[in-house]
Amino acid sequence: MKPFLYVANWKTNFSFNQEVAFAKEHHAELIELGKKPAATIVLCPSFCSLAPLHELFKNTSLALGAQDCSAYKPGAHTGQVNAQSLAEVGCTYCLVGHSEQRTQCQETNEHIAQKVTQLISHKITPIICIGETSKDHRAGKTLSILEEQLTPILALFNHAQALPSLAIAYEPVWAIGTGTTPTPDTLHKTYTWIRAHLQQKLGHVSQKIKLIYGGSVDEKTGLDIIKLTDLDGVLVGGASLDFQKFKNIVELQR
Ligand code: PGA
Repeated sequence: MKPFLYVANWKTNFSFNQEVAFAKEHHAELIELGKKPAATIVLCPSFCSLAPLHELFKNTSLALGAQDCSAYKPGAHTGQVNAQSLAEVGCTYCLVGHSEQRTQCQETNEHIAQKVTQLISHKITPIICIGETSKDHRAGKTLSILEEQLTPILALFNHAQALPSLAIAYEPVWAIGTGTTPTPDTLHKTYTWIRAHLQQKLGHVSQKIKLIYGGSVDEKTGLDIIKLTDLDGVLVGGASLDFQKFKNIVELQR
């Protein structure tokens, strides 16, 4: 069985001290959770906490992810954090294109593709977030938006014989932090389309791309979501800030 990804996106809800305190308080339990067979736990704290969390969890099966990275190689890019630094502080995953970045930092699909290039050149698995707004959802534009968001990313791998490790997180913007999730049937249709689209653009190598869901995953909504056959993981925001809630999600029966 492919390991199922449980990605905890802490966003900037905690301060540096709070993130380190959370990791210390739940240190043993988190390590225990990381030992669950067929599960990969990825903690995504804010940049400042990556190095201390790496120290706390190195040589365990917990993985560390960043929430963003620079689209550029090391150079004159004030305020950014490059992929090389992320690799040096132990990140093996990194979110890119999160809807909060897309809207708050006016990120384009092309810019996100550049970040993906940087990450894979440092052997970090990009978790590429895509998803439609509620307006586009209501207008029935979900699949065309997803196609648009994926186009510059898939163009990076045209005709590739082999693919680097990649994950695509479908996060409908209207589901993030709202307590509302798409129905399992809608999700099944969306993932079936994503798989078919990847297959059409990249061929059979696309099978190894992991498909993740994010948006209001908690102990209750997670029940149906994690059973979806085409799903390889969940991206958890709010519920990952409470250790017990996050643990309950990881322990849901698939
Ligand atoms: P949420 O956030 O679980 O709080 O909806 C998910 C995300 O933004 O990645």
